[in-house]
Amino acid sequence: SAENSFTVAIDGPAAAGKGTIGRAVAAHFGFAHLDTGLLYRAVGRRVLAGEEAVAAARALEPSDMAEPEALRTAAIAGAASEVAVIPEVRAALVEFQRAFARRAGGAVLDGRDIGTVICPEAEVKLFVTASAEVRAERRCRELQAAGHATDLATVLDEVRARDARDAGRSTAPMRAAEDAVLLDTSEMSVEAAVAAAIGVVSAAREGG
Ligand code: DC
Repeated sequence: SAENSFTVAIDGPAAAGKGTIGRAVAAHFGFAHLDTGLLYRAVGRRVLAGEEAVAAARALEPSDMAEPEALRTAAIAGAASEVAVIPEVRAALVEFQRAFARRAGGAVLDGRDIGTVICPEAEVKLFVTASAEVRAERRCRELQAAGHATDLATVLDEVRARDARDAGRSTAPMRAAEDAVLLDTSEMSVEAAVAAAIGVVSAAREGG
């Protein structure tokens, strides 16, 4: 890895808190942050608009990710999980993610396969989980706060379907790397989860 690079890989299922933790860790240490789910969501949106998935992944531009909030709908999440199964789609997104990870000054990447496939040499690997019920409750509240009409049963079904697809695919399935630190946030406040993650990163910086 490049001089001065330091990579924090955060993986885990939908709505476990990866994004919140990733942003907070990045802000604390002055690292850059990439939510890699946005790449798959942007491909998913292009496919919903009629493009072929592999061509869409190869054509992706920074402007596709310019408005993250517009990518956070249930329909786009489902489409993202579907295109993420296709090996050529994943391959088209690898180099961008690795270059981001190697940037000078440190980087946090969150997703499903960062510690296992994208950055197996990451200095810190976290696997953030929570029960499906807790994750569905959090996601339901977020979607409702953003003005999307939805209910808990629907969101729980979507979360479970996405977990099964993300963990069950043959290319780069969601799983914890052998050397990942597990963080179950089911019964943790956001503040406690962020503090725990910062503690793991601090220990690795001092040790490395
Ligand atoms: O993290 P998210 O909910 O925004 O991700 C949307 C979908 O993208 C997720 O269901 C699976 C896929 N994804 C992936 O396969 N690999 C990643 N590193 C990130 C996301």
